[in-house]
Amino acid sequence: MGTATARSFNRRATVSLFSRLRKPDGQADPFPLYTELQARGSVSPAPWGGFLVTGYGTCDQILRSSAWLEPDTRWRERQGARTRWSAPSAREISRTLPALNPPEHTRVRRSAGNFDRSTIEQIGRRASQVVDRLLDTLEERLHAGEADFAALVGEELPVATIGDWLGLPSADWPRLRELTHDQVFTQELLPSASQLARSDAAMAELRAYFLALVRDRRAHPGEDPVSRWIRSWDALEPDQDKADEAVYFLALFVLLAALETTSTLLSTMTLLLVEDPDRWTLLAEDPDLVPAFVEEALRYDPPTHVISRIAAQDCLLDDVEVRADEMVHLMIGAAHRDPARFSSPEVFDPHRKPTHLSFSGGIHYCLGAPLARLEAQTLLRQTITRLPRLTLVRRPSWAPRVAFRRLLNLDVAPA
Ligand code: HEM
Repeated sequence: MGTATARSFNRRATVSLFSRLRKPDGQADPFPLYTELQARGSVSPAPWGGFLVTGYGTCDQILRSSAWLEPDTRWRERQGARTRWSAPSAREISRTLPALNPPEHTRVRRSAGNFDRSTIEQIGRRASQVVDRLLDTLEERLHAGEADFAALVGEELPVATIGDWLGLPSADWPRLRELTHDQVFTQELLPSASQLARSDAAMAELRAYFLALVRDRRAHPGEDPVSRWIRSWDALEPDQDKADEAVYFLALFVLLAALETTSTLLSTMTLLLVEDPDRWTLLAEDPDLVPAFVEEALRYDPPTHVISRIAAQDCLLDDVEVRADEMVHLMIGAAHRDPARFSSPEVFDPHRKPTHLSFSGGIHYCLGAPLARLEAQTLLRQTITRLPRLTLVRRPSWAPRVAFRRLLNLDVAPA
């Protein structure tokens, strides 16, 4: 009786905590809510089923272990036709790289290739030119007063970098960015029916766009990544339609993975820079600290706050019983403030040893991490060396989401 009461109380408290987390105030500062969650233990039941994991060590161990799987197509089918997992956008995303499990995952990941040193150098030169151009525009606006760094720079650099690399016409970038913002709901923690409908519509348009792109590259092959993926998949898959579909899923996911996450990192990192004048001074006096500043921004407030996995079999997770097929939500944003892992976790300290789970871990470790780091470091270095010292005009607002952070504005002015 006592246990049941405690459980229902916890359930009510967790429901209320998540509803606060989804509101603008909760998004502006989710960390006190994470502390409340952590007080219930490193693993606690989620009110909608499954579990919430807030301990850094436990999240890290789950990401690296083969006993935990992605919610793949078969798992989604088992959840039933009337769940969020059967929405068209959810089914589509379940066929992209991060939703696959071995052995399919191994085959597709190999086919994607890596960002080798010469590719990164080439993209780096391009990113540097784009940053120059974007900071010119920002500087012009700053002459007239304040400017929105998120809109002018944070949202622009990732789409220009990945759009250019994939060879997508720049006229298409604004629409692709909008579609990316809409599709993300299907990957959110608790999407509403109307949010899922927006994801479904966005995903249908993205599918048509990328399938047309693959057909066009097949007809006019070049040295771009999409043409290279077509060559790789033609060697792996005798059925050309299936090969084209596999290339479509790669191109689609690379775009989706590269846009919002990187924009959020760029804006969060810049917010951390401008909200405290001592941080600007620190970097201006020692620009070699730029990479460490970026890593600490990734720990302090990562672009992705939740990563989910499924138990492959019944197990005990920090003494909590988890059954096969149950979902665990790794609360990465909370784990990054775990006092058992970090001393004074609430302090932003670029001098601490860089450690975080922002790019996941194990076999799904983010393919684009070198690219995201390159963009962030290039932008930060150029911001502190060529712009006048900036200050924050007003606190930004965030989209009311839980898993995928998104700053809606970042208004700055010369200090
Ligand atoms: C700051 C920016 C970024 C963050 C925070 C981020 C985060 C992540 C995370 C958390 C995962 C793993 C999800 C899971 O374990 O279920 C992931 C996977 C992935 N990311 Fe990123 N990402 C970023 C930028 C990029 C960029 C720029 C690209 C592409 C060029 C990219 C491509 C991918 C791909 C292809 C995967 C799937 C890997 C796999 O499942 O094997 N990401 N990313």
